[in-house]
Amino acid sequence: MSKCRSCGEAAVIDLPRHNANFCAEHFQQLCRRQLSKAITDFEMFTTDDRILVAVSGGKDSLALWDMLIDAGYQTDGLYVGLGIGDYSSDSGAITRRFAEERGLKLLEVDIRNEHGFDIPTAAGVSGRSPCSACGLSKRHIFDEVTQREGYDVLATGHNLDDEAAVLFGNTLRWDVEYLRRQAPVLPAGNGFGKKVKPLVRLTEREMAAWCVVRRIDYVVEECPMAVGNKHLSYKDALNALDSTSPGTKASFYLGFLDRIRPLLEDSASITAPGSCPRCGAPSATSEEACAFCRLIETTSGHEPIPVRMVLNKKARKLFDAQWGSQHGD
Ligand code: AMP
Ligand code: FES
Ligand code: ZN
Ligand code: ZN
Repeated sequence: MSKCRSCGEAAVIDLPRHNANFCAEHFQQLCRRQLSKAITDFEMFTTDDRILVAVSGGKDSLALWDMLIDAGYQTDGLYVGLGIGDYSSDSGAITRRFAEERGLKLLEVDIRNEHGFDIPTAAGVSGRSPCSACGLSKRHIFDEVTQREGYDVLATGHNLDDEAAVLFGNTLRWDVEYLRRQAPVLPAGNGFGKKVKPLVRLTEREMAAWCVVRRIDYVVEECPMAVGNKHLSYKDALNALDSTSPGTKASFYLGFLDRIRPLLEDSASITAPGSCPRCGAPSATSEEACAFCRLIETTSGHEPIPVRMVLNKKARKLFDAQWGSQHGD
């Protein structure tokens, strides 16, 4: 049985990137330190700020909410019901239970009830990929609720693996403009609220372990619509590198954080010269409706399209294996 590097008691997790094993207590201490370093290095927020945590029901965002409360921050949660079949019903139920059991305030936006469409239908009707319709809707709703309810900052559960995969993709394409926007903090301005990613120094595996150690129940399944997207193949590639040289993934991404930090001092928030004539959200132009309002216009009121129908062949096979083919028909 391996032993904790800090206290010599029985270890519950091995962390090859630290070349060490840890007991439950010292593993949590390590996570708390990484969280705190990200928050202070990037001046994300203080205990005076009201933080809105976007929670999906997955391990990362529930762990984030738990860690922020544990560290003494003022937080409420925001769950967006995306209408992705059983995946969304399970995610909503788990998130609600997490909040209820701890007496926390959870705000909810159900896009079908509030905007008349869901993500599978939006993808089917608009011809956008599901993840692009979903990302666009989430960004819009996160920003809208943060500002309407007067929160100082919105926090998401993007972890080191997520950010390393995006960085890898942006670097492969030399998408320099996106590199700047990938900073773990985007300041408020131009009609946008402040957004932060406090988990950028913690990996997916560490967040799963945090949930186990803290007995947090989370949705284990990945979103059925994300199957086969490029982001996942970048993650696999980085994990393959990491398994032969532990620490490669973390040093790739943490090296980026170190280099980007000094550049952020004078970096402006995302620019949006106009505002949407319908909803008032910041937009590229004031001449036409923003992308979210256009999505509502093309999709709202359309007869719901089941998840399974908008998946490609490979994704449908995996979906059937996970959820059963009778679902979503
Ligand atoms: P994803 O884009 O699915 O990788 O999720 C990234 C982060 O966005 C999560 O860690 C959450 O903070 C947030 N998020 C994703 N889906 C939802 C949702 N349905 N409701 C609220 N927040 C979400
Ligand atoms: Fe957005 Fe899956 S969570 S497409
Ligand atoms: Zn220990
Ligand atoms: Zn709009």
